[in-house]
Amino acid sequence: MITDTELKEKWFKFFEKHGFKRIDSYSIIPENDPTVLFTTAGMHPLVPYLLGEKHPAGDKICDIQRCIRTGDIDSVGDDSHLTSFEMLGNWFLGECDKEKMIRMSYEFLTSKEYLGIPKERLATTVFAGDETAPRDELAYNTWKDCGIENVFYLGKEHNWWALGGGVGPCGTDTEMFYDTGKPKCCEECSPACDCGKYLEIWNDVFMQYKVEKEGEKAVLLARPNIDTGMGLERTIPVLNGHKSVYDSGIFKTVIDFINSKATVKYQDSESAKKSYRIITDHLRSSMFVLGDIRGVVPSNVGQGYILRRFIRRSVNHARNIGFDVKYFADIIDLFVDKHGVDYKDVASKREFIKEELAKEVEKFSKALEEGHKEFNKVINGIEKHKQFAALKGETVENIISGKACFRLYDTFGFPFELTRELAAERGYETDEEGFKKAFEEHQEKSRSASAGTFKGGLADSSYESAKLHTATHLIMAGLRKLFGPQVMQKGSNITPERLRIDFNLDHKMTPEEIAEVEKFVNDAIAKEIDVVCTEMSVEQAKQSGAVGVFESKYGEVVKVYSVGEVSKEICGGPHAKNTKDLHHLKIVKEESSSSGIRRIKAILD
Ligand code: ALA
Repeated sequence: MITDTELKEKWFKFFEKHGFKRIDSYSIIPENDPTVLFTTAGMHPLVPYLLGEKHPAGDKICDIQRCIRTGDIDSVGDDSHLTSFEMLGNWFLGECDKEKMIRMSYEFLTSKEYLGIPKERLATTVFAGDETAPRDELAYNTWKDCGIENVFYLGKEHNWWALGGGVGPCGTDTEMFYDTGKPKCCEECSPACDCGKYLEIWNDVFMQYKVEKEGEKAVLLARPNIDTGMGLERTIPVLNGHKSVYDSGIFKTVIDFINSKATVKYQDSESAKKSYRIITDHLRSSMFVLGDIRGVVPSNVGQGYILRRFIRRSVNHARNIGFDVKYFADIIDLFVDKHGVDYKDVASKREFIKEELAKEVEKFSKALEEGHKEFNKVINGIEKHKQFAALKGETVENIISGKACFRLYDTFGFPFELTRELAAERGYETDEEGFKKAFEEHQEKSRSASAGTFKGGLADSSYESAKLHTATHLIMAGLRKLFGPQVMQKGSNITPERLRIDFNLDHKMTPEEIAEVEKFVNDAIAKEIDVVCTEMSVEQAKQSGAVGVFESKYGEVVKVYSVGEVSKEICGGPHAKNTKDLHHLKIVKEESSSSGIRRIKAILD
């Protein structure tokens, strides 16, 4: 048995012996690379050095790099897929001596001091050759010379390595496999088939090429390199003869913990296994993202959206197995205890990770039950429709419309992918194109509406933003009550995290005045008032006493959003369903925006 800590120690001992300098892991969020959200391989942050820049640590380096790959997120829950992993790597910068690297790899894999794998248990693959690069006879002959019997020539789809998208430094590679000893699946059985006989443990890439732009041909690099990568989490079970990555180390610790707290009927059950694994994987990835030096918080865009998906999916799976989300904090502690050793930023952000996670969990948990009810309604609706259709001899497909998916997203915070997953469990598909269309239409609507009512307006159409939007109406109502109806909104900007509202007022607000407006809003929240939308003509809207700005920009029929007797405004939405969803408002700043215009910044906490 070998532990992950032992493997890391052996790795560094070996490469330091060979003159490599150990460097720290880079951030999990790439710097200056807008094309990808996360660091996907050990070489990713090293691209400038692979293209010729001098690395401060020299030209022989090694490290462990935390990475995230979400391409296979739907497969998480099986024995081997993970969304985050640690990659052991070593690099020759400006040098590409294949024979040297292969002999070093052989030594690390077979020497008793290191992995001690019998050479009969190893198989390797090398590049078969095409119009870009010749057949790699040197690699082939070197492996043979080391005494490896099973060396396979394979084509570009197996033995060419580049970053996703194909742009950047790249080249042919030689991959190393552990032969499980299973019988061959067929005459041509090789590491290219996925019968499970051969399991990959290491990849040596000979980075002699680069691709400048997508679709362009690879050209030779002036300074070639070697980039190698060993995925820690997959190598450990291979070396230990385990079936799954979850069978040892921190994964096992966390799975056992979840099992001990899950509802009794799910404990040790096969059916709950997938949920256990998803929670384990996703919370670990959440920890890496939140705990990174450049960490982000959940949101509706970019890395924040992926993080939101990790967390919301975990909450949903916790619900499936009766696992109380309050234990998520304990899981984070287990992960931080483990990974904080290698990643100092993770260790120093322990509390931040737990706090941000808890906030997101709380936000979503509230809507989850309602969302599930809504989801069931949608399915029942389709089922009924099917029955009627059947009477007429027609058929209805098991597809949840884009509109329904969007409603689940917008009102209940279900990331589209979560709806898709729930749908699949019930034998349904989801209309992704329709969802995108509904999403865009909605954005368009709130953009044009906000162009009329606010300058700026909502940054997105999430329920978080909708709640803050309702809060701006309540603040305006509070200001007008306190200072008079001449006070009007002059601009607003809302993100899922906070609101900003500009209005005309001739003085700086005193702390007492701020407290009064805050109280006005919080009283309305406490009264749990439904937010009601009515469509009417501009004339009717005015008569009803609705507040409207820039009326001339509206069409004939407008929407009026009312919060009981508290507020009534012409507005495009979206809004919270009921003021209770706002929970509590806090004004965090009152300042001057421009002459005669004040600005309030507030959050819901
Ligand atoms: N960059 C190579 C990989 O990720 C080593 O497999």
